[in-house]
Amino acid sequence: MTFDDSWRAVSVVPPLGAGEVHVWCEDLSAASPWPPADVLSSEERAQATRMLAPGRRDAFVRGRSALRLLVGMYLDIPAARVAVRLLEKGKPVIDQSGEAPPLSVSVAHSGSVLAVAVTRAGDVGVDVENEARTVDRIAIARRFFTEAESASVESLGESAFFALWAHKEAMLKAAGDGLTVPLSEVEFRIDGRAAPKLRRVPPSYGTVGDWTTRPLATAPSMAGAIAVRGGISSVHCLRWTGALVSS
Ligand SMILES: CC(C)(COP(=O)(O)OP(=O)(O)OC[C@H]1O[C@@H](n2cnc3c(N)ncnc32)[C@H](O)[C@@H]1OP(=O)(O)O)[C@@H](O)C(=O)NCCC(=O)NCCS
Repeated sequence: MTFDDSWRAVSVVPPLGAGEVHVWCEDLSAASPWPPADVLSSEERAQATRMLAPGRRDAFVRGRSALRLLVGMYLDIPAARVAVRLLEKGKPVIDQSGEAPPLSVSVAHSGSVLAVAVTRAGDVGVDVENEARTVDRIAIARRFFTEAESASVESLGESAFFALWAHKEAMLKAAGDGLTVPLSEVEFRIDGRAAPKLRRVPPSYGTVGDWTTRPLATAPSMAGAIAVRGGISSVHCLRWTGALVSS
C-alpha cells in the first residue's frame, strides 16, 4: 500500500490544538505489525466473536485496538483503560473525566486501509471508500443521493460518486446516525474536481454553517472525507511509526 505523500510519519503523538483534527491512516495488510489485539475489553472480545465473517472480525479487532492505542497516547493512559462506549446507533465515544473539551473519534475501514480521526473541535466522522470497487454508481446515486447529486454523478463520473459517498457518510457518522438516516438527508454540491460543498442538513443537525467537511487523500484509488460538527483550523494526516505500547 502506498499512502499519499501528505501523510506525515511520526513516532510521538503531536499535541492536538483546539481546532485541529488528526487523522491516522494505517495499512492493516498482513505484513503490518499494527496493532496487537490484547488491549480489547471483554465486551469487545465477545463482540468480535459474534462477527462471523473473518474479514469483518479482523477489521474490527485491529481498528478497535488502534483506536484504543491512539486515544491512550492522547490521554496518557494505557490502551486497555480507554473507556470506549457505543452510542445507541454504534458510534464509538470516549468517556473522559476532567478533559474539556473532550476527544471525539471516528473509525473507518476499506480494504486494508484503516482511518481513525481524533479531534477536540466537535463530533467527528471519517469515511474511506475504495474507488476500485465495481459498483453501478449511477443506479446507486439515483436510489440514494438527491436528484442534483445524482445528476452530478452522471455528468462527472466515478470519482464524483465516491467523493460524494465519503462526504455524506462522514457527516452521518459524525452525527452518530450512520446509515440509519438516508444518505439523501445530507446534500453536497460537487463541481468538477473541487471538493464537495455541504448544501443541506436535516433540522436535527442544526445548520450547514455548524459543520466543516474536508476531503481526505489516503492512498491511490481511495476516496475519503472527514466531517466535524464545528469549525476547525487544520487537518493533520499522520502515520504511526513508534512503538506500540499496549499496557
Ligand atoms: C456506521 C456505518 C455507516 C458504517 O458503515 P461501513 O461503511 O460498513 O463501515 P466503515 O468502515 O465506514 O465504518 C465502520 C465504523 O463506524 C463506526 N460506527 C458504527 N456505527 C456508527 C454510527 N452510528 N455512527 C458513527 N460511527 C459508527 C464503528 O467504529 C465502525 O467500526 P468498528 O465496528 O470496526 O468499530 C454503518 O455500520 C451503519 O449505518 N450502522 C448503523 C448501525 C445500526 O443500524 N444500528 C442499529 C441500531 S439503530
